[in-house]
Amino acid sequence: MHALISSRPVLSLVRTLALGAGLGLTALTGCDRGSSPSNAGAGKTASSGTPAPAPAATVGDIVIGHYGSLTGAEATFGLSTDNGIKLAVEEINAAGGVTIAGKSHKLVLKSEDTEGKPEKAGTVVTKLITADKVAAVIGEVASSVTLAGAPVAQQFGVPMITPSSTNPQCTAVGDMIFRVCFIDPFQGFACAKFAASDLKAKKAAILFDQAAAYSVGLKDEFEKNFKQMGGEIVAVEAYTKGEANFNPLLTKIREKGAELLFIPGYYTDVANIALQARKLGMKMPLLGGDGWDSSDLAKNGGAAIEGSFYSNHYASDQPTPEIQAFVTKYKAKFGETPDGLAALGYDAARVLADSMQRAGSTDGSKLRDAIATTKDFKGVTGTISINDKRDAVKPAVIVEMKGGKPVFRARVEP
Ligand code: PHE
Repeated sequence: MHALISSRPVLSLVRTLALGAGLGLTALTGCDRGSSPSNAGAGKTASSGTPAPAPAATVGDIVIGHYGSLTGAEATFGLSTDNGIKLAVEEINAAGGVTIAGKSHKLVLKSEDTEGKPEKAGTVVTKLITADKVAAVIGEVASSVTLAGAPVAQQFGVPMITPSSTNPQCTAVGDMIFRVCFIDPFQGFACAKFAASDLKAKKAAILFDQAAAYSVGLKDEFEKNFKQMGGEIVAVEAYTKGEANFNPLLTKIREKGAELLFIPGYYTDVANIALQARKLGMKMPLLGGDGWDSSDLAKNGGAAIEGSFYSNHYASDQPTPEIQAFVTKYKAKFGETPDGLAALGYDAARVLADSMQRAGSTDGSKLRDAIATTKDFKGVTGTISINDKRDAVKPAVIVEMKGGKPVFRARVEP
């Protein structure tokens, strides 16, 4: 059982005895961490920021971690991801868990809140690794937060999979860091292609978040691709996440005759921008990237966001069996339609479990090698193969906001 996932027989014995005596293990395991993960017995304390108390792990369980924005301005990112992971873990466990050397191990999920802040990432990833003894980490959504958390996982030799960070730099942090989504050079191309070919826009303006790695990168890629396709960028203006008044920037843009406004930001700001742009009489379609993906976009943006478009990792209304099975199960469990984050969280957890099983181990470097060789994994968000940069190469979809919901509009192949 447990010796399998711990390289330290003596401490394993201590843990086994402690569990047998019904003791919590946080204190005992707190300093037991070497270069390989030993993740049996986690503490019984609920992790901070977790909506529901984290389930306690018992001997033989494999603990995995998730760090994400469970609260804050991008809370739906972390919450949806967490739900997607939970659904996957539940299904994997119901099907017998992860089998290693003929023995099945239940997965136990520990989730930590980043509040969407890069400065929180190091602390929570360290906690998951040193206190919870996770075999691997899933997270974050936002590229800037992932860029802060990834060096910690890399340093501890614990594999990390970001479900949804699209900035190229995220996986460049080190050989332990993977993603199951496409990257922004492709997403920028997809948006530019849709703008130029489908919307037939010739002049576009850009309003981006200068403080977010994701937004800066996606702006550059859109600009480059749109120009290559013969388009003209007539204005580029920068904001900083959380700004209340976008009127000065929008007023500048309004005078430039753009047929399209590209906003590579996150949904809370995008909804505010849309409301203020419409008030200023700006009627052009708005276009964005995956950062728009939240049920709060329409809740906050209302009519101002109708008829706008964004690129994403999947569309819940696509009639493929994989997507529809996932949507049905997710709705039954959580009472809402899963967004792209939920789908990516689900895929990330399933790729991880599949890799553990193929590795026959939760040892950091063996697990790393197995994740790296993931090939043709059938995910909800498409077929996942990990390339030599530890990224997935997948198509994007463009959705249109109609009746307050994202509706499939186009598919862009890599
Ligand atoms: N791609 C975004 C980033 O890297 C995060 C994101 C992914 C947001 C998917 C919504 C949906 O920051």
